[in-house]
Amino acid sequence: MDSDSEKNLNKVTVRVPGTSANCGPGFDCLGLAATIYNDLELTLLKEENLIIDAHGDGAETIPTDEKNIIWKAARMILDRSGNGDKFKGAILKMQNNIPMSRGLGSSAAAIVAGLTAANEIVGKPFTKKDILKFATEIEGHPDNVAPAIYGGFTISTVDKFNVQTFSFLPKIRLKLIVAVPDFPLSTRIARQVLPKTVSMKDAVFNVSRASMLVAALMQGKENFLTTAFDDAIHQPYRTKLVPGMQEVFQAAKKEGALGVCLSGAGPCLIAFSTTNKHIENNIAVEMVQAFKKNDVQANALILDLDTRGAYVLN
Ligand code: HSE
Repeated sequence: MDSDSEKNLNKVTVRVPGTSANCGPGFDCLGLAATIYNDLELTLLKEENLIIDAHGDGAETIPTDEKNIIWKAARMILDRSGNGDKFKGAILKMQNNIPMSRGLGSSAAAIVAGLTAANEIVGKPFTKKDILKFATEIEGHPDNVAPAIYGGFTISTVDKFNVQTFSFLPKIRLKLIVAVPDFPLSTRIARQVLPKTVSMKDAVFNVSRASMLVAALMQGKENFLTTAFDDAIHQPYRTKLVPGMQEVFQAAKKEGALGVCLSGAGPCLIAFSTTNKHIENNIAVEMVQAFKKNDVQANALILDLDTRGAYVLN
């Protein structure tokens, strides 16, 4: 076999959706996948050589050495499947549409892309559940990686040995109106501002709303959603990291949003709607405007729920 056909055998393209974690009250456990995608073409090489060709959002900031998170994820699959000596290098071609470091799961998408692509090339020794476990190991929490793998709306639990995800498609056709500010926010910093413990009152506040949110989405009971996206254990502490957050929330609600929340650790803010294009556009315009009043430039994305999760394109 010539080296070009060998390379084609060891090449795969995967598409992974952006995600939003927490969904308000479900800190570190609820998540959803959205219709915005990153594509990765991975070619595994026998020789020790790493070539990274990134296009799209944040391409210039992506590490092009061993620190690259996609390559780290791919290496995890190679090492754990016993292929670490067979493939020592790779060519990574990326087309990134998910805004980076904005709370839309760009790092989860990178991890899931690397794991899924490498797993496919070495003959799929690992199941989706294994991929979920590996991805959670790298990311530290499952709430972005789970919807990136399964699509839809996800609820995840973690214990010492196991990560479990329940994924479902809501009976309500949710539209996601996402205000994307022009500044990045690192998850590490957004976690540093959180308290080590929360009060029983705040815990009950969140458990009741997270449960209501899942039940209302599963049964299509829109009227139960009005308070279901509210949170008391992380968003209040993160407000200071996102100038104008409360004003943007109020602006979206005033235009008819069903609920609002910080997307993951932020700084993106999401409003949910089930109505029509006209209302969605108004919500988007007013959210951007409210950010502007707080000296933050933002743009808006109007997205649907992704129903498929990561998949192999070729
Ligand atoms: N659940 C995480 C957080 C999501 O809110 O810190 C960010 O990756």
